[in-house]
Order: sequence, then C-alpha cells, then structure tokens
Amino acid sequence: MADFKELPAGAPVAQQVTNWFENRFPTAFDAYRVHMSEYYAPKNFNFWYFFGSLALLVLVIQIVTGIFLVMHYKPDAALAFASVEYIMRDVPWGWLVRYMHSTGASAFFVVVYLHMFRGLLYGSYRKPRELVWIFGCAIFLCLMGEAFMGYLLPWGQMSYWGAQVIVNLFAAIPFVGPDLALLIRGDYVVSDATLNRFFSFHVIAVPLVLLGLVVAHLLALHDVGSNNPDGVEIKAKKDANGKPLDGIPFHPYYTVHDIFGVGVFLFVFSLIIFFAPEFGGYFLEYNNFIPADPLKTPLHIAPVWYFTPYYSMLRAITSEMMYALIACVLAGAVLGVLKAKVGALIKGAILVGALVIVALMLAIDAKFWGVVVMGGAVVILFFLPWLDFSPVKSIRYRPSWHKYVYGIFVINFLILGYLGVQPPSPIGERVSQVGTLFYFGFFLLMPWWSRLGEFKPVPDRVTFAAH
Ligand code: HEM
Repeated sequence: MADFKELPAGAPVAQQVTNWFENRFPTAFDAYRVHMSEYYAPKNFNFWYFFGSLALLVLVIQIVTGIFLVMHYKPDAALAFASVEYIMRDVPWGWLVRYMHSTGASAFFVVVYLHMFRGLLYGSYRKPRELVWIFGCAIFLCLMGEAFMGYLLPWGQMSYWGAQVIVNLFAAIPFVGPDLALLIRGDYVVSDATLNRFFSFHVIAVPLVLLGLVVAHLLALHDVGSNNPDGVEIKAKKDANGKPLDGIPFHPYYTVHDIFGVGVFLFVFSLIIFFAPEFGGYFLEYNNFIPADPLKTPLHIAPVWYFTPYYSMLRAITSEMMYALIACVLAGAVLGVLKAKVGALIKGAILVGALVIVALMLAIDAKFWGVVVMGGAVVILFFLPWLDFSPVKSIRYRPSWHKYVYGIFVINFLILGYLGVQPPSPIGERVSQVGTLFYFGFFLLMPWWSRLGEFKPVPDRVTFAAH
C-alpha cells in the first residue's frame, strides 16, 4: 500500500483510471515504458526496418484466421478436403478467412526473407546481437515446419505427395532413417495418422514455440538495442539524462511510422487476396484442388515457392556432384592445414577428420548428402555471426564490390528458387549445382572475403536527413 501513487484532488478522470490500474499492475506499465515509450530506437531507420513489425502483423493474422479455420476444418483423411471446400463455399466469409491464411503463409515468408536480408545488409547479427539473430534463425526453422505441416491439412494431391516426398527424405539417414520416417508418419505411408499429428503440431505445438521464440527475439533485441543502416551503436553517445543522442522513443515515433508500413502492406495483401489468391499457382498450387489420391502420383511434385531454393539444393546433390563436394572438403582441409595458426596435433586432426568425411561421402548414398546439404543451407545461417570478419557492420561502409557479392547471392537464391519449381532437366541440374556451391561458398569463405578490400570510415553518429 505504501507505494500507492496518489493524484491531486480534481485530476482528470482518465488520469485517475490510469492511476488506479498502475497502482495495481505496475509491471504492465513498466513494460510499456521499457519496450515502447522509453525504448530508444535509432532515428535513421529506413524501408528495411518495416519488416519486423510486418512479421508481427502476419503472425497475428495467421493466428486469428487459423482459429476461425479450425472451427470448421475436419482433421480426418476422409473429411479434410471436403471440409476445406465447405469453408470456401458455405461458411459465411470462409473464403476470405481461408485466403487470408493461405496468402498469409506466403506473405510471412516474403516479409521474413526481406527481414533477414536487412540483417545481412547491416550486419545486425554481429556483436552484441548474436542471440537476436539466433532466435531469428530458430523462428525461421519453426516457420518452415509450421508451413510444411499446414500444407498437408487441405489433403489435396500436392499436400499428400509433397509430404510423402519430404518425409521419405528422412528415410535416407543411415541406421535410424526408416524408423524415423515411420515415427513422423505414424504409418508406412502418409495417412490419416499423419494428418492428425501434423494438425496437432500445426495448430498448437509449433505456434506455441514460435510465440515463445518471438518474445525471446524481441526481449533480446530490446536488451541490446536496435542496430541501424549505419551500423553505429547509438548507446555509445548519450545526453546528460543517459538517453542516446541519436535515439527517438519507439512510441509514438516508430508506432506511427510502422502504421504507414502496415497500410501499404494491407493494400498489397488485399489486392492478392481479392484478385489473385492462387497467385498463378505459386501460393495455392492447382494440383491441390484435386483430392489426395494415394494411388495416383502427380507427374511433377514441387514444394511451395518459399521452400524451392532448398529443394533445388537437395536435387543438385547427384552422385556426380559428390565428387565436386569431396574436392571441396579436401581443399578445405589442405587450406586449414596450411593457413590455420594451430599446433601440429590439431592440423593432424583436421586431416583425419576430412578423410573420415570423404570416406563417409563415398560410402553413403548421394540422396542422404542431399538431405544434409538442404538442412545445412538453413543451419549455416546460425553461424553467420562468427563467419563475418569485416571491420565494419553496415554494407554502407564496406568496399563497393561487397555489394555485388550480396547482389549475386540474392540472384543466385532466386535462380535456385525458380529451378526448384521446374521439372528436373540436365541444364537446370548443372545450374543448381553451381548455385549450391556459390550459396555455401558465400558463407564458408566469408571469414576470408569479408575482410578484403578498402573499407570506408564509419561516422561517430548516425547519418540522418529529416524529411
Ligand atoms: C515471426 C518472425 C519474426 C518476427 C515477428 C520478428 C520480429 C522482429 C521485430 C519486431 C524486430 C524489430 C524491428 C526491426 O528491426 O525490424 C526484429 C528485429 C530483428 N530480427 Fe526479427 N522477427 C522475425 C524473424 C526473424 C528472423 C527469421 C531473423 C533472422 C534469421 C530475424 C532477425 C532479426 C534481427 C537481426 C533483428 C535486429 C535488426 C536490427 O536491429 O538491425 N528475425 N525482429
């Protein structure tokens, strides 16, 4: 009782009501101050900084529309497809809710890919934000699992066969693979049991983990403070009150700024929902309007667009490609022995390790290594903070040619994505093999190339021109 704040008599009613709540729930008011009105964000945020709040918006859209879909959806192999058609045709506004959810899934990946790319551009993954990045990567993994399991639920041909192909990949893991695939499916083929467990994971288990990770992501970010397009730490320069000179309170400045982003996003989102919800077969595949038929394999099976770069990397690993990978492992080991400043014992260990890996690469089927490469393409992101040795964070102060490296990285990722949608072809296979090598080269050679070239001086304060 002693800490109760009393207002002078005659204070406005709104203030009295607020005060009544603050005296009874000070933690909520402290949280509001720490994360909103007294969270000082750099004043030079640009276009790329819209995507964090947009990812939050899409997360909310997915949860809310998901709740309404579950009210009418039937997680039963005999009823699932028809229940989705029922939602589309008979449930009032069901078509809108379903299209919001299916378009939301693609929008989530568009927004998150752009959000991650921003991190790459401005070195936001580097000290002291390594954990913010790692929580982000874990979110990305969860999001992939969430989208994959959600895609089985309409029980169309692509749902069924896509799941069949991906779950079968696990069977390629030596020793435990076949049992693992059986455990995931709950049956010898994708079936009602699979649908039930995917439904359970999709509607409750993964979203809970996702929400927990998003909270951790934001708490970790607010502890260390946001990065910005200049990569300058604003906490290094504070005023007499201890507030960063280049910081502005998140609320109201960035709340209003983000509402603008939300407006533009909702405009484009609505255009897609109302005029092109299938988006040419990229957001909702045409084959998925045919009920799942375990006896009829579609001619061409491809995952949804956001998985296709990784799918391309999986398909790139043929037995021929294994020789190129073996050459890479050996070259890496020789380079390690010649260049690493470590003792003879460690150098010996590097060589022996490389030889063991090569032996395994020769002994185990290329299909398994395809799975390793596909998983590795995501796992490698976790290590980014320890791969980048550039003396500056932001691309703005790096040598100009670094921009081309990032540009080629993006183009390569898009080409891999395109090839992943196409049926296999000899040329496509070669291009995706080169693309896979470039993708991994970008990250694995980063400790070397990120420090090369002439760096520009980083200013003390952020650069900002008021508009
Ligand atoms: C559900 C998905 C996600 C949500 C809701 C989310 C939300 C946010 C928000 C609101 C911010 C602060 C605003 C901003 O800087 O844009 C942020 C910052 C950040 N996020 Fe995410 N994020 C998500 C996924 C990811 C992923 C997948 C990664 C990377 C793998 C990532 C990495 C980062 C980084 C490095 C920052 C700090 C950026 C900086 O200060 O420059 N996030 N996130």
